[in-house]
Amino acid sequence: MQANSYLAGRKPQHKQVNYAFFHPPKKNETRMSQREILVTSALPYANGDIHLGHLLEYLQTDMWVRFQNARGNMCTYVCADDTHGTAITLRAEKEGITPEQLIDRVHGEHYQDFQDFLIKFDNYYSTHSDENRELAELIYKRCKEGGFIATRDVKQAYDPEKGMFLADRYVKGTCPECGAEDQYGDNCEVCSATYAPLDLKDAYSVVSGAKPVEKSSEHFFFKLPEFQGMLKEWTRSGTLQPEVANKLAEWLDGELLEWDISRDAPYFGFEIPDAPGKYFYVWLDAPIGYMSSFKNLCERRADLDFDHYWKKGSTTELYHFIGKDIVNFHALFWPAMLDAADFRKPNAVNVHGYVTINGEKMSKSRGTFITARTYLDHLDPEYLRYYYAAKLNDKVDDMDLNFDDFVQRVNTDVVNKLVNIASRCQGFIGKFNDGKLAAELPEPQMYADFVAKSEEIAERFEARQFSAGVREVMALADRANEYIQAQAPWKLAKEEGKGDEVVAVCSQGINLFRVLLTWLTPVLPNMAAKAQSFLNVADLNWGSIEQPLLDHQLGKFEPLMQRVDGKAVAKMLEANKPAEAEKPADKPKKKAKKEKQAPETPDVIDFNDFVKVDLRVAKVVKCDHVEGADKLLSVTLDVGELGERHVFSGIKACYQPEDLLGKNVVLVANLAPRKMKFGMSEGMILASGDDKNISVVMPPEGAKPGDRIS
Ligand code: MSP
Ligand code: ZN
Repeated sequence: MQANSYLAGRKPQHKQVNYAFFHPPKKNETRMSQREILVTSALPYANGDIHLGHLLEYLQTDMWVRFQNARGNMCTYVCADDTHGTAITLRAEKEGITPEQLIDRVHGEHYQDFQDFLIKFDNYYSTHSDENRELAELIYKRCKEGGFIATRDVKQAYDPEKGMFLADRYVKGTCPECGAEDQYGDNCEVCSATYAPLDLKDAYSVVSGAKPVEKSSEHFFFKLPEFQGMLKEWTRSGTLQPEVANKLAEWLDGELLEWDISRDAPYFGFEIPDAPGKYFYVWLDAPIGYMSSFKNLCERRADLDFDHYWKKGSTTELYHFIGKDIVNFHALFWPAMLDAADFRKPNAVNVHGYVTINGEKMSKSRGTFITARTYLDHLDPEYLRYYYAAKLNDKVDDMDLNFDDFVQRVNTDVVNKLVNIASRCQGFIGKFNDGKLAAELPEPQMYADFVAKSEEIAERFEARQFSAGVREVMALADRANEYIQAQAPWKLAKEEGKGDEVVAVCSQGINLFRVLLTWLTPVLPNMAAKAQSFLNVADLNWGSIEQPLLDHQLGKFEPLMQRVDGKAVAKMLEANKPAEAEKPADKPKKKAKKEKQAPETPDVIDFNDFVKVDLRVAKVVKCDHVEGADKLLSVTLDVGELGERHVFSGIKACYQPEDLLGKNVVLVANLAPRKMKFGMSEGMILASGDDKNISVVMPPEGAKPGDRIS
């Protein structure tokens, strides 16, 4: 078994034009050849609130963009609401308003949420705009002229009462294979059968309840197969993370299908030119929203030119940040459409995984579907910015937001390490030197050593390995604290005639703080702004830290960040729990039914989930009874390269400590640590059986601790 296949390092990318992408230009080079970069995040649907899952993407993008600008590049960040499609219409109907009213309101809400999380778009637009209509029409026209549009009749489920065609998920009924009720029109959640909506027994329209009929209409298709060769090459040219390219190869090595880009009226979207009653499918005009948001920005920014950025062969750089669920749209259809319409293609599509909360999928009923607004009502946005930065890498793995970890991480790193440097030093400089820094640093070499790390940290951020970058910054913060601790200015301050020494030590501290915070400005922009006014400097740019601040008057100090209050987190989680009455009515019902129908069927996981389980050979180096537990043994394991692990294992009915000591067992090594009544358990020993008869799985003869088991 090859678990953790994502761990393979990312190969060097952007071979020719964007070589600089992975080897950022040196500072003075930067000034001469400033990169022009356009960056986007996926356009959130205009039918729901922004939540903490979304924010992983917008915060990641914002930090990357801020980093680019802090480095002296010209980096522009655009986004918009994704406003078209059936879901928007139905949501508006439910609220008793028009789709236009809905998307206007939601645009305001989304924009405010983003602003309050300090996400700095150059433009936050809408796909329901003139620019987007014009560009969608233009791209479609060019595709058509190029011979890339086909038309043919398609048979589909139709709601005769509503007078509309029904997409698969708007039809429900009884599974034709296993008889499970209430299944969607494309596949059965109970037995995994796939079928057409009208194969369902007792099919009904989710929209009106009516029995759907089959009806045929003409559809427009984009001839994706004509771009197979281009896509095979493009997806392998450093534009995608290797794990994403591998996944796409599964499609690209097979036969591609033409893509249905039209929908019949009634549909909230853009009507297709010369095709009355036919509309562009929402996913056709959504990515075009990237272009139209930028176009709209160009109208008010003299320094930006639409064609310069979008014409074929453009020397500017284009990056899309997206989640793993929408890869096909961005790495197959989108580059093909751009190619067909004679526009440039993106340099890279950067894909991230999904946020889980406390180890589980976000869920409304568990109260972990936390909206941006609920979070903001209780907590500082910079906590989340830091937490995500401290955990983000360039891989597609999901990321767990664990609130105990969140409180601890932010308090330990930001408050105790970083902020502490400034707050413990500034008072002494005020007291002994009227707020003026010393004329010389006592440890100039240490300062130079810090600054020398700049390029390394920049490379990490450039490559979206934020966690690695933040780790390096925090390691240096530790060094700064050790220095101050060793010099103990608070002791010197009590001694006669040591005032200059106190000022020297604290000036060293403040200068190191300035360097650390400059690196973290993209992550903590509010704190940086406060620190900037305290440091009394014009900016906190990468370039300016080479010179320390000497003989320099500080400004007024204000607290940079409050500790995260665990109680505020608890309140937020409480506030987010839906009131009993609000809980989705069909949830408990559906669950009960599932249990009744298929009591023995465990939740299905797909193969990709299965291969993520990291099974390792582990040697029992210590094994004891647990006082007060009748089923558990406490086991310490040597897992080779993974070090030592401690687990509680419920095998006492059949094993005594001496049976296991020195033996090899199989450990599920990547299970999240769990807090049990008797302490933490860091994994699970594989065993089978019931309460009375248990056998521990033994690895083959000759296996060594740390070996993977397949
Ligand atoms: N409207 C489309 C995107 C069109 S782009 C031309 C869409 N919208 S969305 O609102 O569902 O998602 C917006 C982005 O947020 C997507 O990139 C999606 O992957 C991401 N996320 C949504 N939920 C998420 C998590 N729980 N975790 C991480 N990212 C998540 O898709
Ligand atoms: Zn079924």
